[in-house]
Amino acid sequence: MPVNEKIFIGLLGYGTVGSNVYQLLQDQAGEIEKATGAVISVKRVLVKDVAIPRTGAPADLFTEDFEEILNDPEISIVAELIGGTEPAFDYVTAALTSGKAVVTANKQLLSQQGFYLFRLAEEKKTQIRFEASVAGAIPVIKVLRESMVAADLKSIYGIVNGTTNFILTEMSRTGAKFKDALARAQEWGYAEADPTSDISGKDAAAKMAILASIAFHTRVELEDVACAGIEHVSSLDLAYARELGLTAKLLGVAKLYKNKINVRVYPALLKQDHPLASVNGAYNAVFLEGTTIDEIMLSGPGAGGMETASAVMSDIISVVARRAAPGFLEYPAAYRELEFFPDDEVVSTFYLRLEVEDEPGVLAAIASTFGEHRVSIQSVLQKGRGAHAELVMVFHPVNEASFNASIEKVGKLDVVKSAPRPIRVEGNEE
Ligand SMILES: NC(=O)c1ccc[n+]([C@@H]2O[C@H](COP(=O)([O-])OP(=O)(O)OC[C@H]3O[C@@H](n4cnc5c(N)ncnc54)[C@H](OP(=O)(O)O)[C@@H]3O)[C@@H](O)[C@H]2O)c1
Repeated sequence: MPVNEKIFIGLLGYGTVGSNVYQLLQDQAGEIEKATGAVISVKRVLVKDVAIPRTGAPADLFTEDFEEILNDPEISIVAELIGGTEPAFDYVTAALTSGKAVVTANKQLLSQQGFYLFRLAEEKKTQIRFEASVAGAIPVIKVLRESMVAADLKSIYGIVNGTTNFILTEMSRTGAKFKDALARAQEWGYAEADPTSDISGKDAAAKMAILASIAFHTRVELEDVACAGIEHVSSLDLAYARELGLTAKLLGVAKLYKNKINVRVYPALLKQDHPLASVNGAYNAVFLEGTTIDEIMLSGPGAGGMETASAVMSDIISVVARRAAPGFLEYPAAYRELEFFPDDEVVSTFYLRLEVEDEPGVLAAIASTFGEHRVSIQSVLQKGRGAHAELVMVFHPVNEASFNASIEKVGKLDVVKSAPRPIRVEGNEE
């Protein structure tokens, strides 16, 4: 690459992330030039309304017309930081079709249209990079794409939603109820006014779809990821879990079973000495298991304007670097379509709290119902008395279909007073 080559970027969006990318390009220009031999600058910035006054960048940089960016032959990289699927999909498609490289932080777009966009980039011999779409500042996509080529990955566990991790940490730390911890998260800026997509696990599901696609080179989309949120996790469960040496996290789990893939998001309990158990507050972490790497954990801030901008910058630099070595490590991101492994056939360990009548023979009746389904109890604690009697149980690993059938039956026993809500326990394999 000639020294001091000029590279021009078209920035789509100048919000929390876009404005910080602009700022980073100014602040780190010297370092970036040293590392890449190129002078990288923003030529145009697309916004919805140019009339809104903005700080940090000259007013004549802003435009409301995407065509100005698309048709500018000097702009070789488009950084999509507007979010959502429309018009982001149209813009990214048009940019790739015209041969421009695309960098995006957009998990919605990639978890729904990623496979199509990867293929398009390949066909047009250009690149799409998306480090910032999962786990903010943590360079997990780069690690999966470049450092794990020979890792023979088997499973990925992710704490990929900072809002839910903050809420569960607050509930465990203070004993707060879910709705109070959520209110605190909103007050401190860790949760949005409408937190539905975070709380329901859907945001984490989008990120796990992207991670699983990249790690296992296969098509996994948002609709392939079953998710359960944290709205039913009670502070009582967290207190009992602590007594059992367990801690709660909203986990994304992507695993290969007999060359089939299973990807899900659910609240899970982890042994307190599991590396993921100590990831607290709004932090994110991704835990990788593979034949040749044993275990590797990456952790760090999962969001934030500057943190996310730093991931966008690392993609921009990779795009520029690749010009010097075209094709190197540019194998297709998701080149196959593995079958999905059914949720029902997964073998898991469960925790269960049952509200029961306080009378003789209750435990025996419940244990025998589980026994009929070959579900075996590993440990049981009896809590409370009278109207508030409870059994807190942990089970040996069991096929999920058998377990679900057994709790449906247990839930119908006269001595059981409320619907059983089991929580999976991860990292408890025997
Ligand atoms: N914020 C984070 O911490 C974070 C973390 C990880 C990933 N991300 C991802 O990063 C992306 C950007 O997020 P953000 O927080 O920076 O969003 P944001 O603050 O809402 O900014 C969005 C920007 O896009 C512009 N925009 C929106 N729709 C547009 C349209 N139809 N045409 C032209 N411009 C449009 C807006 O223009 P106006 O200024 O005119 O309104 C604004 O400048 C999203 O994909 C998000 O999921 C964000």
